[in-house]
Amino acid sequence: MTVVPAPVPMIDLAREVEHNRVAIESAIMRAVRSGQFVGGAEVDAFEAEVAERLGVRHAVALNSGTDALVLALEGLGIGPGDEVITTPFSFFATVEAIVRVGATPVFADIDLVTLNLDAQAVEAAVTERTKALLPVHLFGLPAPMAALNRIASDHNLKVLEDAAQAFGARYATAAPCRGCDGSCPRDHWQGRCVGDLGDAAAFSFYPTKTLGAYGDAGMVTTSDDALAERVRRLRNHGSRADAKYLHDMFGHNSRLDAVQAAVLRTKLGWLEDYEARRRHVAEGYHAILAGEARVTLPPLHPDHVFHQFTIMLPSADLPRVQAALQDQKIACQRFYPLPLNEQPALAGYDAGDTPHAREAAQRVLSLPIDPLMDDATVDRVAAAVLAALG
Ligand SMILES: Cc1ncc(COP(=O)(O)O)c(C=O)c1O
Repeated sequence: MTVVPAPVPMIDLAREVEHNRVAIESAIMRAVRSGQFVGGAEVDAFEAEVAERLGVRHAVALNSGTDALVLALEGLGIGPGDEVITTPFSFFATVEAIVRVGATPVFADIDLVTLNLDAQAVEAAVTERTKALLPVHLFGLPAPMAALNRIASDHNLKVLEDAAQAFGARYATAAPCRGCDGSCPRDHWQGRCVGDLGDAAAFSFYPTKTLGAYGDAGMVTTSDDALAERVRRLRNHGSRADAKYLHDMFGHNSRLDAVQAAVLRTKLGWLEDYEARRRHVAEGYHAILAGEARVTLPPLHPDHVFHQFTIMLPSADLPRVQAALQDQKIACQRFYPLPLNEQPALAGYDAGDTPHAREAAQRVLSLPIDPLMDDATVDRVAAAVLAALG
């Protein structure tokens, strides 16, 4: 009798729920029994807990990461005529938000080791119309924020972190801080949390994220009081908390449900454990794949929280490896097969010159990574990659 190996999904959220069933059920029932289903005490408590954890003055809970980007850009006053420099190697929502507020996306190339924005390319892309930088902490690895903040400070630009994939990461760098001429006695950014590294940050709590809800959810974090107030108003049709049904501006409906806040508060309690487990999986992949020259591994930087474990392969080998994994029922994904500046929807915009992003798009392959994955499964996935390469 042949034994059919169990399928390996990218992440198994049903297993996560089963593993933590009592805590999740009691959080959901607490929220439901409160009778406050949208906003309310559960959401207020979640905001306070995140703000304290990240070291920011304000955390504004919203109904998605996409809305967090849009409302943060609107709140920062970015609109028609403004250019926003961003990465071409991200999920579509990053650029969609820029276009949604009427601004113009400008693409700077990425670094091929980190797959994040290359600060030198960003500096070269600044014009007199540039109003903001929108770096993405891709796959859980913080973008080079010390260098980006220095550029922002030199050119008087706003910085919005797209932190959708990196909740929980702490920035580790030895580079000088914003507004610093290099003689500063301490690094203002080192050890600070993602979400506290710019004027504002947008988080997604989509279920697969490092902190994931059981539905859609997002958040803007900032230490700017006026910006936080604008985002709070924007999420509720522009209305002020102290004057119900009086609208002197237009907004959105982007409020967070209490049930999602309750789930997220519970999962905040496991975050460090789950982060360590993700890292353990990443180290396991590294240990097995490091000897294979055709596999380019993601850096094991101390600040990487491994939302994804994304390797690069020679583009000629990629289809063979994908097919072999599929045959063995091992999931894999290409995040992302087409750079943003080559998406048909962006046809009317200047694509810039981003050869590294194009190369990455042709070579990346993300392997399953799940806090509850056991060592034997990590070994099986890595062995399958090596076998497919031959
Ligand atoms: C980099 C990035 N930005 C923004 C988003 C949008 O977040 P949401 O799906 O919560 O709207 C995502 C979600 O996948 C993302 O990965």
